[in-house]
Amino acid sequence: MTKLLLRGRVLSFISEPQGPDDTACYRYIEDGAILIRDGMIEAVDDHAKLAAADDDAETVDHRPHLLMAGFIDSHLHFPQTQVIASWGAQLLDWLNNYTFPAECEYVDAAHSARMATHFFDELTAHGTTTAVAYCSVHRESAEAYFTEAERRNMRMIGGKVLMDRNAPDGLRDTPQSGYDDTKSLISKWHGRGRALYAITPRFAITSSPEQMDVTGTLAAEHPDCHIQTHLSENHAEIAFTAELYPEARDYLDVYESRGLLGPKILLGHSIHLKEREIAAIAESGSHPVFCPTSNLFLGSGLFDDAGLRARGITNAIATDIGGGTSYSMLQTLNEGYKILQLQGQKMHPLKAFHWITRGNAEVLELDDKIGTLDAGTEADIVVLDARATSSMALRMEKAETLAEELFILQIMGDDRAIAQTYVAGKPQKNVG
Ligand code: GUN
Ligand code: ZN
Repeated sequence: MTKLLLRGRVLSFISEPQGPDDTACYRYIEDGAILIRDGMIEAVDDHAKLAAADDDAETVDHRPHLLMAGFIDSHLHFPQTQVIASWGAQLLDWLNNYTFPAECEYVDAAHSARMATHFFDELTAHGTTTAVAYCSVHRESAEAYFTEAERRNMRMIGGKVLMDRNAPDGLRDTPQSGYDDTKSLISKWHGRGRALYAITPRFAITSSPEQMDVTGTLAAEHPDCHIQTHLSENHAEIAFTAELYPEARDYLDVYESRGLLGPKILLGHSIHLKEREIAAIAESGSHPVFCPTSNLFLGSGLFDDAGLRARGITNAIATDIGGGTSYSMLQTLNEGYKILQLQGQKMHPLKAFHWITRGNAEVLELDDKIGTLDAGTEADIVVLDARATSSMALRMEKAETLAEELFILQIMGDDRAIAQTYVAGKPQKNVG
């Protein structure tokens, strides 16, 4: 049995902030502590109280830093670690010229394993403790992904992509092999330790109607698995999808007609939606995923967060590495803030930090396990230093409120602001 007491300024969210002045949505303890036993959060309270009750726990003093739930990245691509910053193209050319060639390499188990080590190092360096990832079409990439996640005891969600057309040799499966590989990966990994499997049809363009039917079968056979795909990211993508699925009412209908909609599905991007699609997303409880750095980098468009929310839709937020340009959920918030600014919408810091912790956990239906710092949940914790760089420290001299400090982290923060990341109670940064 191991016991750890983390001391610092503790911030956790109780509910979604209704505005910048909503102090009821969070709990903040100035001299607080988190008591961790065997990788689980046992209590969160004043440091004095917990220290008195548990004087045999090892204490780590993180003052004056902020302790929060670890960040959750709800959409990114494991085999795109070496695709980030590929110049000049929008979605379809970017996929064909840079992304598909890079993903071909993941047929090699040794390459997949080496990249998995780097990928998970990057996640924890940036304060991300849970992510939902697309692996490549190859079983080997999913094996490497889940093996490395298990080695680190991380709560990770992922799946091999199903893709059987409009991709190069070596990067296509078939309806049958995609089904068989997905089934055997689910039976091996889903629910093993902290791993969860996501059924992953890449998008309409790379799956034949027969393969889309198969993903419907997989979803029906495994209703407790998440489903992830891409939707309406780019105008050329939407036009090509309409050609490939002439019978579909719209892009969403390719997925909807196979029974894929519902609270388990994550719809990456969802930028250029038609009224019928928005109504169907709302009606089914499906979740669009906002990917700010990717949407700017690929010139895809502006995600209408407020418009979707007004329809009762709950959106996730994510990096979308490697269309996205940073592993940092803080930088994701920074770019997201600007995208919303361009549309006259606001992302205030309480909403922002709720979104990358409890908000994304709720979308994933995992808020009983991660994202909240509640007693009985898993001890995935990030330690934030708002004075991590000289320019941040200078700006912090003028910060008077918690909200101001959070906003500085939201706009100026990156991996340098992550003083420590705990996964199931174990520190991940600067450890021997
Ligand atoms: N649509 C289909 N595949 C991808 C991908 O890898 N990245 C992005 N941004 N969009 C996609
Ligand atoms: Zn993506």
